[in-house]
Amino acid sequence: MRIVSFVGQKGGVGKSTLARVLAVAAARKGHKVLLGDFDLEQLSCIEWSATRLRNGIEPDVEARSFKSLKKLRQSVEGFDLVVVDTRGLADELTTDISLESDVVFLPTGTSMDDLRPTLALARRLAKNRKIGNKIVLILSKVGRSNRLLEIARETIANAGLEVLDNIWPERDGFQADLDIGKAGSESNNAYLREAAALIEADLLYLALDNQ
Ligand SMILES: Nc1ncnc2c1ncn2[C@@H]1O[C@H](COP(=O)(O)OP(=O)(O)O)[C@@H](O)[C@H]1O
Ligand SMILES: [Mg+2]
Repeated sequence: MRIVSFVGQKGGVGKSTLARVLAVAAARKGHKVLLGDFDLEQLSCIEWSATRLRNGIEPDVEARSFKSLKKLRQSVEGFDLVVVDTRGLADELTTDISLESDVVFLPTGTSMDDLRPTLALARRLAKNRKIGNKIVLILSKVGRSNRLLEIARETIANAGLEVLDNIWPERDGFQADLDIGKAGSESNNAYLREAAALIEADLLYLALDNQ
């Protein structure tokens, strides 16, 4: 059983979205996936999972809400991947979840406003040597400027941090899909499917294959 978490200092950077993208990609490959939602204010994953069930979208992706790591530990039996979505803040629970995880994804936008707190959190988490080698950044909700993307990649490389090769591009269509219980490569739009497939391959590799 593997645990992969999405953490961050900020809201709105794509944590809950990418958690659902990974969960769907793994479920479509036949894995038994649990989405663990620690964001009790938003419950994005819980709501989405219910919408998915209501709309009859297969495969089902089970989502449960958790307040503590202890409760999560008690629920993981029978699953081979647990995808954890967290709140947009970095507290003690963030560190505990990161310690428990095999991979810790930090989605971030390309702007310095997004990168600054993300790099700060990554450095803070990496002080714990048991977390440092699990941290992977994801360039998320990336707009169309190649220049901004290159600067962001350079900034991350200079900080000595790892980042996924593929990006999560900003496209309104992804939002529309989430609203009906889909995620990523389940899109009806071929272009969106293609864009999602690239990052899904990266996420799946780190979540499941790279053991
Ligand atoms: N690739 C994307 N393109 C456009 N909108 C996106 C994309 N990914 C996520 N969003 C939207 O951005 C908002 C914040 O995403 P969310 O995953 O909830 O962030 P977080 O969990 O980090 O707060 C949501 O409204 C979501 O639908
Ligand atoms: Mg969220």
